[in-house]
Amino acid sequence: MTKKKSILDLYKMKENGEKAVWIVLYDSCYASYAEEAGMDMILCGDSMGMIVYGHNGTVPVTMDMSIAHCQGVRRGAPNTYLIGDLPFGAYHASTEDAVRNAVRFYKEADVDAVKLEGGVAVADKIKAITEAGMVVFGHIGLTPQSSASMGGFKAQGRTTDSARAVIEDAIAVYKAGARTLLLEGVPEEVCAYVHKMLPIPVYGIGAGVECDGQVILAADSLGMYKNFTPKFVKKYASIAEVATKGMEDYIKDVKEGVFPGPEHKYKISGDKGEFDKLFAEMEQYFKD
Ligand code: KIV
Repeated sequence: MTKKKSILDLYKMKENGEKAVWIVLYDSCYASYAEEAGMDMILCGDSMGMIVYGHNGTVPVTMDMSIAHCQGVRRGAPNTYLIGDLPFGAYHASTEDAVRNAVRFYKEADVDAVKLEGGVAVADKIKAITEAGMVVFGHIGLTPQSSASMGGFKAQGRTTDSARAVIEDAIAVYKAGARTLLLEGVPEEVCAYVHKMLPIPVYGIGAGVECDGQVILAADSLGMYKNFTPKFVKKYASIAEVATKGMEDYIKDVKEGVFPGPEHKYKISGDKGEFDKLFAEMEQYFKD
């Protein structure tokens, strides 16, 4: 059995130059695969809005949805470091909201950390959650919850002005007490610079290789989500194809009477003649 990592293990990995690997998923079944594979961390992300619920973005995701999925993930991966993703609206209005909702993740879903999006603008929320004794993962760069104000899911930090904003966000998140930082959708140079300058673990998604580890969505990397695949995704499996083919075979077998076969049936216990007698006796009740 794998021993669950702690935040100190993540720092040790950074110190030793060992990359941390995390994956985004939302249910118990896939969580158990991740744990069996030896994943360092699982993020139960608000991308569930698109992958599980079919929305166009993450904004409709609520705390109740996030908690329910996180609980499933924890049951499937009891020994893997689990991060709960604070959804849009769960921490924006006040520091009280931020702390209350982070506490919900810890109490109801047994998480090891919470993640929230934003830099300078949410530094007070990061500080409040951290001061309440919880671990915060920051998330800056392309932040899907604010895609409306970014004009879509657009890479950040590609110009010097934009890179300055990303770096200012990184500094704000670190100074507010976040224990790690995730950079999404930024050029490798920007990620490498932030990684070089900050003492906390810096992870990337669509941010190049020069950081302390990578995260990716299971739905993207295992080929489950067909609507859109970001440029930075490497596909390690083709689950959509395998699942569709399996369903086609199932439909065919049922239509042709091939399934269920003898090995899928329950046998009667006792004498077949007794069953025939019972069926004959019961026949009249269907006619009444
Ligand atoms: O919800 C999510 O999938 C995320 C990843 C993009 C890191 O936040």
